[in-house]
Amino acid sequence: MEKEAAARRLEELRGEINKHNYYYHVLDQPRISDAEFDLLMRELLQLEKLYPDLVTPDSPSRRVGGMPVAAFRQVQHIVPMLSLENVFSPSELREFYLRVKRNLGIEDLSWVGEPKIDGLAVSLYYEEGTFQRGATRGDGATGEDITHNLLTIWSIPLRLKERITAEIRGEVFIPRQDFLKLNRQREAQGLSLFANPRNAAAGSLRQLDPRVAAERPLDIFVFSLNGISGVKPLSAHWDTLQYLKELGFKVNPLVSLLTDVEQIMDYYRNIESRRHELPYDIDGVVLKVNELHYQQQLGSTSRAPRWAVAYKFMAEEAVTRVKDIEVNVGRTGAITPVAILEPVLLAGSVVKRASLHNEDVLKEKEVMIGDEVVVHKAGDVIPEVVKVIKEKRTGQERAFSMPQLCPSCGKGLQRLSGEVAWRCLNPACPAQLIERIIHFASRNGMDISGLGESLARQLYESGLVKDVGDLYTLSREKLVQLERMGEKSAENLLEALDKSKGNPLHKLLVALGVRFVGERAARILANHFKSLPAIAAAPEEEITGLEEIGPKIASSIKHFFSQEETKRIIKKLEDAGVNFKEEPEKEEKKGALERCTFVLTGTLKDYTRREATLLIEAKGGKVTGSVSKNTDYVLAGENPGSKLQKARELGIKILTEDDFKSLIS
Ligand code: IVH
Repeated sequence: MEKEAAARRLEELRGEINKHNYYYHVLDQPRISDAEFDLLMRELLQLEKLYPDLVTPDSPSRRVGGMPVAAFRQVQHIVPMLSLENVFSPSELREFYLRVKRNLGIEDLSWVGEPKIDGLAVSLYYEEGTFQRGATRGDGATGEDITHNLLTIWSIPLRLKERITAEIRGEVFIPRQDFLKLNRQREAQGLSLFANPRNAAAGSLRQLDPRVAAERPLDIFVFSLNGISGVKPLSAHWDTLQYLKELGFKVNPLVSLLTDVEQIMDYYRNIESRRHELPYDIDGVVLKVNELHYQQQLGSTSRAPRWAVAYKFMAEEAVTRVKDIEVNVGRTGAITPVAILEPVLLAGSVVKRASLHNEDVLKEKEVMIGDEVVVHKAGDVIPEVVKVIKEKRTGQERAFSMPQLCPSCGKGLQRLSGEVAWRCLNPACPAQLIERIIHFASRNGMDISGLGESLARQLYESGLVKDVGDLYTLSREKLVQLERMGEKSAENLLEALDKSKGNPLHKLLVALGVRFVGERAARILANHFKSLPAIAAAPEEEITGLEEIGPKIASSIKHFFSQEETKRIIKKLEDAGVNFKEEPEKEEKKGALERCTFVLTGTLKDYTRREATLLIEAKGGKVTGSVSKNTDYVLAGENPGSKLQKARELGIKILTEDDFKSLIS
């Protein structure tokens, strides 16, 4: 292509890619498939390779393949990045509220409530609408230049909708589920675990090599703007938030305009009650005076503004005693020490066990049996021991050392080089076999409802199921022999097993639990090879040749399929009629929503918008952005928007999340 034509096409591609990136990562409403997006991206990269001088600062290619930096440069903040004053109780909040009104000498002002995101503060600098650089908070006056890592966050726009020059601030975070997944991957690879999503986000931004950040699911919510030029005149913080959205940023959807202290308290209680449903960690709410001229009038101390406060949630830490330390044997044979605790109430549930992760963590924290410890739990994250209260030691505590033999099968344990975990390498170890059954049936695997931990144990211990291949030989007669297994439960289980036979190949691959093969790798493999026998027979070079599949995964796959045990299991699955293909032949369920048009509104509990969209599309339906008389269904989650109202007006069928589940199942 001629250079001029290339320049035109590149401009077009940048626009298209940045636009679809916005739909996907900011609005969570993709309009094209991942494959179509990849195609655009590939074309851009190819053209830029031909004409490197046509690469612009807002080119999406800057997000991929950035080079490591030698060191972090210092960045002087234009306006100091302050912290926030904290309050912890209704009376402290009221005191703050009255102080603000007293200082201003007025009664009539409004407030904005925002969730306090538990992440890392960053500053983003845009010149004439183009992202120039970004920095950490540092000491408030000077931060570190982390542009190379921020570029990998797709929800940070490279080009704004207006050509303004401004500094924008926000909080970078990792969603909780992604954090758990990251830690599972790290555990499988024998790497040290992150204590919480915030540390994982911080660790990712403090990397010299942007390839590390690129692999971490970082995201951002922004909440402030310091305009330098071209910025629309704004008189209230609420307007700033709307303006930030218009510019293309992601603003937290739970921000709220409030008028008095009662509304503030309601807002706090509402957000607190929903805190664990949110896909990311928050540690309180931030309350800000809405009118910008009042903010100015109030000013700041050297540490924090006088017009804002963080109302923190109750601690999710508690003190209890370690009664014992046990070790757990995982699916891959990894041995995890677990503290058995005096039961303690923590973040709304009774906690009796807490993970100690591995021998290194155990040694670092110096936990002994009998110790008083601080335990921490957030949401559905596994509780963990934060630290020992050493001052409380009486001398009666007992040291714990990792066992040398597997507690389940009694075989010797090994610590492989480069790994932090001790492992039981016995393929016939009962604990591992039970864990494998649990994993096989789990949601990301074959999704066999009703088959959880206790049933898996029961099935194994009764001798009915020795490996996952035996699951499909279960019958009603065999099942009803089990304790606590009624006719109805047996039937339900058989039905769930039968249904699972039709799962696409990638789910089966995840379920089989090949080391290092998570959902993403499973999808890539299944899409490429199409069938299980093809994967089993694939030469290692062909597997490593796939994008995102490295030698470690490839060698693990080869190893897995070369084992006699695997071959026996696969034979059993085949005999049972389990689908080995990525696209099942019988597609009775597919097309159930053929040509139905959906509109999504509000937040769903069990799916992201993207997942719900994919599900609908998989069944032949489509998702559009706005409600019209052509809409068949409106799927309404929590906090639905005006679309719900519109649907009611037009008499369109409204589905709750549960209705939707039964519709697609
Ligand atoms: S306002 C000068 N809003 O909390 C105003 N901060 O403890 C300071 N944070 O450094 C920022 N969510 O990193 C604000 N909605 C929110 C926030 C938020 C999280 C962080 C921010 C700040 C820290 C202060």
